[in-house]
Amino acid sequence: MTEFDDIYRRSLDEPEAFWAEAAGQVHWHHPYDSVFDDSLSPRYSWFPGGRLNTCYNALDIHVENGRGAQTALIYDSPVTHTVRSYSYEHLLEKTACFAGVLKAQGVRAGDRIIIYMPMIPETVIAMLACARIGAVHSVVFGGFAARELATRIDDAEPLIILTASCGIDGDKIIPYKPLLDEAISLAKHSPLRCIVFQRPEVRASLADERDLDWSECLTKAVPAGCVPVTSTDPLYILYTSGTTGIPKGVVRDNGGHLVALQWSMKNIYDLDAGDVYWAASDVGWVVGHSYIVYGPLFRGCTTILYEGKPVGTPDPGAFWRVVSEHKVNVLFTAPTAFRAIKREDPEGQLIGNYDLTSLRSLFLAGERCDTDTLGWATEKLKIPVIDHWWQTETGWPVGANCLGLGMRPIKPGSCAKAVPGYDIRVLDDEGTEVAPNAIGNVVIKLPLPPGCLPTLWQNDHGFQTTYLDTYPGYYLTADAGYKDEDDYLFIMSRTDDIINVAGHRLSTGGMEEVLSSHPDVAECAIVGIADELKGEIPCGFVVLSAGVTREIDLILAELIQLVRNEIGPVASFKLATGVQRLPKTRSGKILRGTIKKIADGETYRVPATIDDPDILNEITQSLASLGYPKNQVSPLR
Ligand code: COA
Ligand code: AMP
Repeated sequence: MTEFDDIYRRSLDEPEAFWAEAAGQVHWHHPYDSVFDDSLSPRYSWFPGGRLNTCYNALDIHVENGRGAQTALIYDSPVTHTVRSYSYEHLLEKTACFAGVLKAQGVRAGDRIIIYMPMIPETVIAMLACARIGAVHSVVFGGFAARELATRIDDAEPLIILTASCGIDGDKIIPYKPLLDEAISLAKHSPLRCIVFQRPEVRASLADERDLDWSECLTKAVPAGCVPVTSTDPLYILYTSGTTGIPKGVVRDNGGHLVALQWSMKNIYDLDAGDVYWAASDVGWVVGHSYIVYGPLFRGCTTILYEGKPVGTPDPGAFWRVVSEHKVNVLFTAPTAFRAIKREDPEGQLIGNYDLTSLRSLFLAGERCDTDTLGWATEKLKIPVIDHWWQTETGWPVGANCLGLGMRPIKPGSCAKAVPGYDIRVLDDEGTEVAPNAIGNVVIKLPLPPGCLPTLWQNDHGFQTTYLDTYPGYYLTADAGYKDEDDYLFIMSRTDDIINVAGHRLSTGGMEEVLSSHPDVAECAIVGIADELKGEIPCGFVVLSAGVTREIDLILAELIQLVRNEIGPVASFKLATGVQRLPKTRSGKILRGTIKKIADGETYRVPATIDDPDILNEITQSLASLGYPKNQVSPLR
């Protein structure tokens, strides 16, 4: 048994002792009554009775321990030509003042605050300010459209919405305020106030007394202190795609989250106070919550907030520039970012222009890392490249090579082993564990460790039916995969309708709902097809209603625009084709898997249950007109 194996076994055999030890790394205003409460099984709570404050553990504690002058946050924004650093002391001061602004508006512990903001320091300050006074934040990614924002407003019912006048994505400036105004007009719930941070690139118009200017509010702010909350109180809600157009509000508690992230920073990423950590993601995603904001600050690291792209801001050397300029020790991003860099600089020539000696490891997540990208990154950077797997729901890695517990051999295509605290099993459809190397449903035996979602916002029933009912006693990840004979985990695909586009999780069901709302559409299917850069992209197959005589190209263009307007540009929905019928089984199930195989150029078997095999020829021709597959297809009959 290695040290890792010992620790892993202990985490499962003695979870209370294991997590009590981890909880010792956290500052509690009041100790917890027990580590773990299973009286409401299968719903569990961690550290009930404990009182603590997340912001205190992210900022105040470091200042009190003499690290106030250390850099907490570096804002690096090639799109605005800005690099700005905040020490722990400075970030604390800014956060306390903004917490005062929120308090002055009547915000109390438990109130919800939506943060629809770009990658600027004010966003981090806003999140921490909410945590400081016990308010529950819900950050909405800037690439979502007004309707998606409206859905979240109605679900979270925020007292206040925080926004900025614009986001900047590469060379595009996206005014946020019109999107917010539209979302509020679509939503049933009205926030009391919107506080708007004005960026110099665009000035937002502030309509009436509902809208306040961020900087003006700050002039009158009285700094606010930390409000201790109970461990099980929600810290944030983060919406993620579910199997319908309705997003799921993943709830994160305060205590379990703090303990788990603190543990992960050392044991998974091998980081200590003073190290520089860069998660090149967006605060709108879980990676941004856990590893741009909370994890690095809990650990006393310096975190990088990068408002740029891997390419084009200004070139594919951007990541290397940031690493060398800020002496980054650990980098975390999605494989798609590396594919983008590799596409523009295949030989990695720009790497040679920078001193990357500070960089110890690269972590990749968000999608399965293809072996080409893994090989390229390893060869060019000559450091461990770790693919690790997790979800918005878990909040921190489930499968990883835990560097802090000793590096294990890397098997390309695998996210290595279950992280301590997670008991991962692979089950067949009947719920029986499968043999090594056999693919099945990846589940986690309950209880989930601290940090994972305790429920969905205002939707205990949805939590139960989505995650717990399929295999009693297990949490359903909705990922399919296998474990090999060494217990290495290979995550292969989703078992639901979720696709992964440039590391972004999207529901094809949600997109189909949008297409179906078009008056000319009788039926449709969206399939995620392989894309060299983004991993997957959505492709729409549309059957027009009888009697529609308008130009199909015109209708397809309208559909593409509709998805952009209703879901947002992040959906990357740019491929659609008209077909006479959709291939279905005799019982009426659309054969999305077969369409995907044709599009991806994989050998496919004509399903025995198909109602009319000739439809597949039409699908093949339609895809050919779009330039797919990129490889040769061969049907097996
Ligand atoms: N606000 C508004 N619009 C946004 C946005 C934001 N914050 N982020 C993205 N968009 C828009 C983009 O401008 C683009 O719009 P377009 O269709 O008009 O071009 C669209 O949403 C799709 O964006 P994206 O998926 O980022 O594609 P891209 O072609 O602009 O860039 C990559 C491709 C691979 C470079 C980019 O996706 C990337 O850097 N990915 C890193 C992955 C990542 O951070 N994943 C998070 C999980 S770890
Ligand atoms: P999100 O909730 O947006 O983080 O997306 C989570 C989903 O992304 C997972 O359920 C997987 O389907 C996929 N995913 C994330 N990381 C990996 C990985 N390293 N390997 C395989 N799939 C991954």
